[in-house]
Amino acid sequence: MLSSLRHSRAVNDLTEQAASALARARSLAVLTGAGVSKESGIPTFREAQTGLWVQYDPQELATPQAFRHNPKLVWDWYEYRRQLVVEANPNSGHLALVELEQLVPRVVVLTQNVDGLHQAAGSSDVVELHGNLRRSKCFANCRGDPTLIDATALLSESRQASPPRCPHCGGYVRPDVVWFGETLPEAALSRAYQASEECDVMLIVGTSGVVHPAAALPAVAKGAGKTVIEVNPEPSGITSFADLILQGPGGEVLPRLVERVRQAKCTRAVAATRSTS
Ligand code: OAD
Repeated sequence: MLSSLRHSRAVNDLTEQAASALARARSLAVLTGAGVSKESGIPTFREAQTGLWVQYDPQELATPQAFRHNPKLVWDWYEYRRQLVVEANPNSGHLALVELEQLVPRVVVLTQNVDGLHQAAGSSDVVELHGNLRRSKCFANCRGDPTLIDATALLSESRQASPPRCPHCGGYVRPDVVWFGETLPEAALSRAYQASEECDVMLIVGTSGVVHPAAALPAVAKGAGKTVIEVNPEPSGITSFADLILQGPGGEVLPRLVERVRQAKCTRAVAATRSTS
């Protein structure tokens, strides 16, 4: 009883400290991973039992070699995942991040997720580090990188077998996501580095922090002297150097945190009025 009371007091203290850092911030970089979408019903990658890479071999499904070897298997697996995200809705964690835009002047979301749920929630500045499952492109990028193709229209118009064929070159169409062994979109990565260096606070939600180069961004922010806050129910590759750790699911921790930021902003505003009057 006493220890659970102490625990909840500690959680409250950490939330207050995080809220106070966010209330002072002019610029916030939010780095997200699969955990932020878990409460929308999208599986993560590395969690025991339920993680995609625990059940499936990424070498057979998420590399250019795998696609060359068995394009239908890879395309169909991504179609299955695409169906999951198309049917999913943003959760309270995604929505809380949108609310933060009313409280912090500049907010950029740097996401490793390919589900488009931050945009669906209403986040206005989202940098997609690993692409987006809802888009497709020519495997050969025959008209430049990326040669985007509307695969849904192609499939329904011509009832092609999967994967569909590129209307320009006749080669295969693939999902517009980053596979193992591929480089990240250059513009997205350089924006992410810049945001990590220039923000006042980096908030990291739901990533194991093991896949580079995205996993290096928290260390960039920390190295530049920024406050690093992590939200995750489990320890991650970031936990050891985060300034504040808010342990728990994003869908619960983030709305609570945003509420506290709102209160902290009000308190600051009242104090500022008093000191000028
Ligand atoms: P992981 O599956 O590696 O990690 C998911 C993280 O989310 C873990 O640290 C969990 O503890 C945490 N988590 C679980 N439930 C949560 C919740 N409700 N709220 C907040 N956090 C929660 O996923 P990522 O770190 O995103 O890349 O994986 C990084 C990359 O590896 C992915 O973008 C993907 C994958 O291979 C590509 O496909 C290129």
